[in-house]
Amino acid sequence: MNVIICKDKRAVAKEAYKLVRQRVMCGRAKVLGLPTGSTPQGLYQELVRGFKKGEIDFSDVHTFNLDEYIGMAPQDPHSYRHFMDEHLFSHVNIKWDNVYFLDGLTADIDRECARYEEAIVSLGGIKLQVVGIGRDGHIGFNEPGTSLTSRTHMITLAQSTIADNARLFFGGDEEKVPRWALSMGVGTVLDSDEVLMLAVGASKAEAIQGMLEGPITSMNTSSALQLHPNVTVILDEAAATRLKYRDYYHRIAPGNEEAMLKYLAAARRKAGLE
Ligand code: GLP
Repeated sequence: MNVIICKDKRAVAKEAYKLVRQRVMCGRAKVLGLPTGSTPQGLYQELVRGFKKGEIDFSDVHTFNLDEYIGMAPQDPHSYRHFMDEHLFSHVNIKWDNVYFLDGLTADIDRECARYEEAIVSLGGIKLQVVGIGRDGHIGFNEPGTSLTSRTHMITLAQSTIADNARLFFGGDEEKVPRWALSMGVGTVLDSDEVLMLAVGASKAEAIQGMLEGPITSMNTSSALQLHPNVTVILDEAAATRLKYRDYYHRIAPGNEEAMLKYLAAARRKAGLE
């Protein structure tokens, strides 16, 4: 995994924007997977700013959001769909038909989950999946104990997730947070071509350490990303405090490959091969 440790959350947003913009504009990522939460808000602000400056174009981008609360109408101000409209979709030139969301009001959960998986496949799969991380290591809403091969499914939320999300979405009132959600599975996330994980703040430090340096375990579903060949993790200093291999991550940070190629070219010249 590529691990980029930034000074603060603003720097995380800027670094993430650079990567997303590059993938979208070179045509590599026209199908994006997107998360909600406080962590990606900075990235969404950057995407809106970049769009207004003409740096990024969403006209042929399709998006799939990771998850939605069960029982939540899209227009409900607490829904993830509403969050995305407010923070990103209404400010850029994405076509509304290209925005895919799980239906929290579906009468047939199995069918809705199958529909989502089929829609992803019909567009050729997710090229770049952006994810945040819960305090318990969840990606999407894949709480501890979720199968690491799971597909889109119904999940019962952990108490720590309910408490965390009450803060952001429900004015702190835990009683109002739905107990269930629909979420892409861990297997669904692993199927994407590339994953970008963002994490900020000390409350994520333990989960991040488990994800990067712990064993692969369904007790921290983000650890399954160790099995994915193309993951970039962008962290702020606070989220990186528990990492044991920080120095090594700095050594393999962007610029490392260019340095290696330069070194190799010099060695080849010296050996008379060029
Ligand atoms: C929710 C979402 C996740 C998100 C997590 C962390 O549980 N389902 O996708 O990563 O919250 O949110 P935050 O970024 O607010 O810490």
